[in-house]
Amino acid sequence: MTLDTSRYDRLADPAWRYVDQIALEDLSRADWLLLEAQRSAYLASQQGDQALRLLRASEHDPCFGYMVNNYRHSLQSATMALRDGREEEDVVVALLHDVGFIACPLLHGDFAATLLGAYVSERNVWMLRHHATFQNLHAPNLPGVNRHERERWRGNPHFDWTAEFVARYDQAASDPHYPCEPLETFVPMVRNIFARPPVDRRSILKETA
Ligand SMILES: [Fe+2]
Ligand SMILES: [Fe+2]
Repeated sequence: MTLDTSRYDRLADPAWRYVDQIALEDLSRADWLLLEAQRSAYLASQQGDQALRLLRASEHDPCFGYMVNNYRHSLQSATMALRDGREEEDVVVALLHDVGFIACPLLHGDFAATLLGAYVSERNVWMLRHHATFQNLHAPNLPGVNRHERERWRGNPHFDWTAEFVARYDQAASDPHYPCEPLETFVPMVRNIFARPPVDRRSILKETA
């Protein structure tokens, strides 16, 4: 079969090569070695930026009632963490904690934990997974929720951080007058976090809540 190379998508680096088979079962060992080498370089240069684009895509989305959209809430959360002198990882986690809030609402904490889980501490993986439940404490008039549901995790080593994160950087981070940093402020931080050697945290992510 002759393939029409004009239909190929461009390589990230013009010095790289395409594999010339389509079905995985037809790839040779040399093809796989080529792909793995190019994949490593590709992720190193692209992963953080592609994660950021998930958030950036929501910049101009409309709101459903809060005075700011999810994008501005995320920027405010990260800006508050930054101005509090938090470590870089905590700022990045604040920036991306709700990145799935609209597309994956019920499991948006797990969404963020899965996105960041290989690159951040267990304390932040746990916080991301459970932050929405901790939010209930701050919504005394929200019908149908138990404000104190978080108490089932009292004594967990990550309880206090999750409570603090939600209290300081989440529940009050929807202020249309707050002077947020632009997303560009956080770009190098996000790149740094995703450049860390990944840790296999799949076992934590499979733990039931
Ligand atoms: Fe959230
Ligand atoms: Fe949030």
